Amino acid sequence: MEILKKKQRIGILTAGGDCPGLNAAIRGVGKTAIVTYGMEVYGISDGFTGLITKEYFQLDESHLSGILTLGGTILGTSREKPYKKKNNGSSSISKPELIKEHYDQMGLDCLVCIGGNGTLKTAHLLSQEGLNVIGLPKTIDNDVFGTDVSFGFDSAVNIATEAIDRLHSTANSHKRIIVIEVMGHNAGWIALYAGIAGGGDLVLLPELGYEEDCIIKYLKERTAKNKPYSIVVVAEGILPDRKKKSAAQHISRLISEKTGLETRETVLGYVQRGGSPSPADRILATRYGAQAADLIARGEYGNMVALKNNAIVAVPLAEIAGIQKLVTPDDPVLKHALALGTSFGCGI
Ligand code: F6P
Repeated sequence: MEILKKKQRIGILTAGGDCPGLNAAIRGVGKTAIVTYGMEVYGISDGFTGLITKEYFQLDESHLSGILTLGGTILGTSREKPYKKKNNGSSSISKPELIKEHYDQMGLDCLVCIGGNGTLKTAHLLSQEGLNVIGLPKTIDNDVFGTDVSFGFDSAVNIATEAIDRLHSTANSHKRIIVIEVMGHNAGWIALYAGIAGGGDLVLLPELGYEEDCIIKYLKERTAKNKPYSIVVVAEGILPDRKKKSAAQHISRLISEKTGLETRETVLGYVQRGGSPSPADRILATRYGAQAADLIARGEYGNMVALKNNAIVAVPLAEIAGIQKLVTPDDPVLKHALALGTSFGCGI
């Protein structure tokens, strides 16, 4: 008598801030799981919230068609951190316990967590508690440790670069200093890459800090050399308390007060996270997704998929959880920018 093997059942969630490429990753995992491995795929709503409230739905191939180019996430997302509070409001059962209970009730064989540092930390803790988990690194900030790049970053750099390009022409017409603030949390990757791609004159990164006198001297020298305008790219994280004033406002005011030059500021904000992913992010997210399904099929749980020297590899969650990847002073990209005269505000 033929024994029917139970189909493997996986759940996918997207958590943390959204970014371009999330749907491409969901499609990559889901299609590979269904087409190559005959698995059943479930989408969990709104990150870890959906696992706490047990909100999920089956994803078949029709749900996964036509979403490659879509921004946002068809699953929804949230910043729910189940390990942060001990219990679930008045309930005596903790959120991680609820998640484990619902994982079992849903009959999951593996949970795919697509997210940044916070999500991957939670994924690791759940894996330590016995759940089968696979992580996928996404974030515009590019600060996930253990991978050369996270998807979402390339799209954000493209958007920020286009903005800097546009600021060049208006800054030139009016002979102004324009300060543009880009996202990145407390990492400077977007500022560094968009700063270089957009030909920013002065780039300020949280990892390096800056000296006010140095900024003033550099901009005055440019004016003296008949360079009547400048583009200053600042990472949002350069100020310790950015709730009071944006980094762009702070630097813009400093420049106008100390140089007398006319300055303007632009805070790029959430536009960096929205819209269709770049081709590079579509490819990366698709490859991460397909590799995640491969790992599940082989039972290699407790890993994050990653890019290392252009190869997609598996890295144990235990090796990356809780570590942030920051720009270092010896970064080769930073060194080349420095060599051609880009200023980092004497942070280096
Ligand atoms: O981590 C992505 C990111 O966009 C950061 O660059 C930014 O600081 C933060 O999220 C904004 O978070 P929120 O969505 O909670 O406003």
